[in-house]
Amino acid sequence: ELGKYRHYMQKEIFEQPQALGNTLEMIAGGGGISPQLFGADAVGIFGATRRVLILACGTSYHAGLVARYWIESVAKISCTVEIASEYRYRDSVPDPETLVVVISQSGETADTLAALKFAKSLGMNKTLAICNVPESAIVRETALRFVTRAGPEIGVASTKAFTTQLAALALLTLALAKVNGRLSDEDEAMHLAHLRHLPVAVAKVLELEPEIEGWAQRFASKHHALFLGRGMHYPIALEGALKLKEISYIHAEAYPAGELKHGPLALVDKEMPVIAVAPADSLLEKLKSNLQEVKARGGELYVFADAGSEIPQSEGVHILHMPEHYGLLSPILHVVSLQLLSYHAALVKGTDVDKPRNLAKSVTVE
Ligand code: M6R
Repeated sequence: ELGKYRHYMQKEIFEQPQALGNTLEMIAGGGGISPQLFGADAVGIFGATRRVLILACGTSYHAGLVARYWIESVAKISCTVEIASEYRYRDSVPDPETLVVVISQSGETADTLAALKFAKSLGMNKTLAICNVPESAIVRETALRFVTRAGPEIGVASTKAFTTQLAALALLTLALAKVNGRLSDEDEAMHLAHLRHLPVAVAKVLELEPEIEGWAQRFASKHHALFLGRGMHYPIALEGALKLKEISYIHAEAYPAGELKHGPLALVDKEMPVIAVAPADSLLEKLKSNLQEVKARGGELYVFADAGSEIPQSEGVHILHMPEHYGLLSPILHVVSLQLLSYHAALVKGTDVDKPRNLAKSVTVE
């Protein structure tokens, strides 16, 4: 079943162009975005949505954090994202007009299911599941649903489920914007063209594997790593750190780069590799000065830059240029390189990549 691959995780990383193509099949033709992709009642529910609340755990929570940037900037709807196991145990202010979005690969995560039921018990019945398993418990509980078509994910570390969740969330953003009159025809056509290009764009990122493997070999002997990102790439830094922790057991933390000088800079020395997600966006100049702060303290930097970004290579600063610049969908491309990085770090360490210690694929207990 593994074919030419050594592990399910590797196979699933490389299946991403196909998984994205399948998930986005309904927009493959020339038409526009249809809210009905989310269910027959989607137009009514989306049209009345004034707030979005996203609930999820782990990697699915990171997908929600990226979606917050998209939903607020494109659909102009206020959005909060909460870890399901925290939401269900706190007193919050319920709002029946809020669209509650639960994200789960398995659809069986106990905390996410319980958070959804809790939200419903508070009178929030406008619910949407983004899930990879059509007949799962979570999907059976929601008014609307979008089933990602990643195919079965076997590796405990979630990879293709994450990128397909992001594709679904990009579609949700466009549907919310369209129903609420915030999407011009030109913008709709542009976003859809970018989405249709995704499988090809991801395939090009996968070609960077040999260079990324070289990086992983350099830092796999370290005990700690710091991941930096800004804006919608901060959740990608979080996801990169989670992947590295899960499968290579290297302690990793992620920070929005602007927070460095508020504490974590104290940790930086030559034993602390710093991995930066540095796309060519409006925050690049700020990020560059954050990277200077790291370099001045002897930290070894590994920078994922976009095509055409000018970040000078120098002693202790390694730069890898992504094949293209991707705009709004950039988090989907950048995460692929971080998946490869953690996979290769784990190979060097010889850990059980597909079944890391202490973890289960589906967390069906609290
Ligand atoms: O099936 P779910 O998406 O609900 O699972 C949520 C988390 O348990 C999951 O994403 C976990 O964090 C992964 N092992 C991350 O790689």
